[in-house]
Amino acid sequence: MTSTPAIPRHIAIVMDGNGRWAKARHRPRSFGHNAGRKAVREVVEGCLRQGVEALTLFAFSSENWRRPQDEVGALMELFVRALDKEVDELLQQGVRLRFIGDLAAFDAPLRKRMHAAMARTAGNDRLHMNVAVNYGGRWDIVQAARRAAAAVGRGELRAEDIDEATLGRWTSLAELPPLDLFIRTGGECRISNFLLWQAAYAELHFTDTLWPDFDQACLQRAIDDYASRERRFGRTGEQVARARPTQDSAC
Ligand code: IPE
Ligand code: IPE
Ligand code: MG
Repeated sequence: MTSTPAIPRHIAIVMDGNGRWAKARHRPRSFGHNAGRKAVREVVEGCLRQGVEALTLFAFSSENWRRPQDEVGALMELFVRALDKEVDELLQQGVRLRFIGDLAAFDAPLRKRMHAAMARTAGNDRLHMNVAVNYGGRWDIVQAARRAAAAVGRGELRAEDIDEATLGRWTSLAELPPLDLFIRTGGECRISNFLLWQAAYAELHFTDTLWPDFDQACLQRAIDDYASRERRFGRTGEQVARARPTQDSAC
């Protein structure tokens, strides 16, 4: 028995392992990135079926610009193709699509497509799907700090009044439920500068499955793993056990 609800409200995924998946098939890395689109569809469907409220996917990190130019180019083309092809389906499924990250780094046509996709799906709220592009957890904290500093400069906020709640409101995803479950595919057990602020109390699930092979059964395994955890948020197990009947009856 744990006090963890069976279904996480907000899941984030580091979609890793595309390159190794392609290499095992003697194909270029871009083949693996393209194959990862099916896994994205799988997790969206899985989240919709389970009633997960928010899904945040790491598609391109602020560090991924360091990759060979042809791979970065192939990824940009893939984003454009995916935007052109998948948004209708997302719209019909009731998915609200948002991009998080420093979008200013992308060329104007791609930015335009991103903003158009966000605007088209803005009326949906069955699933909030956030795609992190040119995103870094440190960047996110820095941009929140900049906004706080600007508010101080305008005289709207006193520096001594900046607390976790104030800064948190300026970080990405602040309007969504807190991150419950952080999944990383591809076998690496690291965060790679993803949601540093938001993952403070997320449950972590690492799997060796390479991203293109990740399907609804894999998602279910991650959710089952999550449901088996006892989330204590600094309290003792006994305190959590005592609080449980009150929490349950409040639902
Ligand atoms: C993740 O897969 C996708 C991106 C970072 C864009 P990788 O491309 O990192 O795949 P591996 O880790 O090399 O297998
Ligand atoms: C993290 O994967 C970024 C994405 C999945 C988009 P990487 O493959 O870039 O991470 P590192 O470099 O192995 O830490
Ligand atoms: Mg990788």
